[in-house]
Amino acid sequence: MSESIGVFNVSIDAWKIVEEELGKPSIFKSRESLTPEHLPDKLPHREEELRTLVSYFKHLVSSPGVVSQRVLIIGGVGTGKTALSRLFGRIFTRFAREKGYNVAYVHVNCHRNRTLFNIIYDIALQLAIPLPQRGLSAKEMYDALLSYLQDLDLYVIVALDEFHYFASVAGNDAVYFLTRTYDAFEGAKHVNFIFIATDMSKLALLDPTTEGYLLRHFIKLEPYTSQQLYDILKYRASLSLYDGTYDDDVLKFIANYEGSDRGGSGNARHVLEVLLLAGDIAEKEGAKRITLEHVRRAITSLSRELVNVSDVLKTLTLHELLVLLSITRLLRRSGKREVKMGEIEEEYRVICDLYGEIPRKHTQLYEYIQNLTKANVIHSYPSRKGQRGRTTMVTIHYGPLDALEKLVLELIEKRRKLEA
Ligand SMILES: Nc1ncnc2c1ncn2[C@@H]1O[C@H](COP(=O)(O)OP(=O)(O)OP(=O)(O)O)[C@@H](O)[C@H]1O
Ligand SMILES: [Mg+2]
Repeated sequence: MSESIGVFNVSIDAWKIVEEELGKPSIFKSRESLTPEHLPDKLPHREEELRTLVSYFKHLVSSPGVVSQRVLIIGGVGTGKTALSRLFGRIFTRFAREKGYNVAYVHVNCHRNRTLFNIIYDIALQLAIPLPQRGLSAKEMYDALLSYLQDLDLYVIVALDEFHYFASVAGNDAVYFLTRTYDAFEGAKHVNFIFIATDMSKLALLDPTTEGYLLRHFIKLEPYTSQQLYDILKYRASLSLYDGTYDDDVLKFIANYEGSDRGGSGNARHVLEVLLLAGDIAEKEGAKRITLEHVRRAITSLSRELVNVSDVLKTLTLHELLVLLSITRLLRRSGKREVKMGEIEEEYRVICDLYGEIPRKHTQLYEYIQNLTKANVIHSYPSRKGQRGRTTMVTIHYGPLDALEKLVLELIEKRRKLEA
């Protein structure tokens, strides 16, 4: 008897919890549309760049095949490179199809696919073109892909995002091979490219002819100003938050904090992150609207630990910073909780390559990881028993990683100047 009353009490409590939680006012109309993966239908302040992109690919809806276009998009972190390219791809192909042209857009992430083979394989996969996985060289695969496109009478825009990774790992010859696909070709040209990279210096290892070739058509995305970030926030907030749960003050506060004209980095991803977290904090509190205090707490929790660690970072050696940059990038781009020693080593080699630094040996690298751990900059531990071949796992508990990456990049530049 007493037991069943106990159960009854528990279920009343649970009922109450559910009722209370569901009764709380909601801030989000669509939380999902504030997340980084969401691609909105409009990109305020990128209209001109979108127009330019369209003009570069005009031939695909008038006389497809006459040229193979190559366009380079350059811009800092969070300036909308990926979003711009994807939105262009989505709308342009829809428009072309409606006009009866057979055009497809493929977005390839070169951070994940760093070899010619993987890139070609990924393009084929996205277009559902059956290519044999084995037995063919990358170049043979590419030829097979091109002849499939010809048979299907399909014209493709291939966006190679984070292109500097490919350029650095696959090297000049591979880049040359891709960019010059149709140089001595008389027939219809079915493949066009958009190359996306963070800055030109990362492509500097290419020989000048290939570099010059890439620069022929290029679009540069500047960091956003406060006013631009405000417009972006206003638009994204209208999609994701209920009317009356936020006001201009809140949006301006966030925009001013990050705007490039006010010393911020002009990163749209960061302002959206702050708004999302502020909304979460407000909702958890049961507040009816997002206040400046919620925003302050969001900004603090996104960067407080970074302030603590920034003094330590200044004492690191160049190669410790390069290792830290590798870890930060891997965590940020993969979205994973932790990364393996082997992955760090691979990334570190690429980064050394980009900077023209000679990578240190494995044992030295391991020592750097130990030092960074001791300094509380990273957290490292052996992988769990039972996993084949135990390895060291590494993670970072503070953030935002965007801001950490920026800080590390600045420190690397300083170190290199000192050592030069
Ligand atoms: N003009 C804009 N209007 C609305 N949202 C934007 C705009 N620019 C960027 N965003 C949003 O900001 C976030 C970051 O943009 P995006 O991923 O395109 O940046 P990126 O330049 O590719 O950065 P990274 O170098 O880190 O890859 C995305 O969620 C994107 O939707
Ligand atoms: Mg991007």
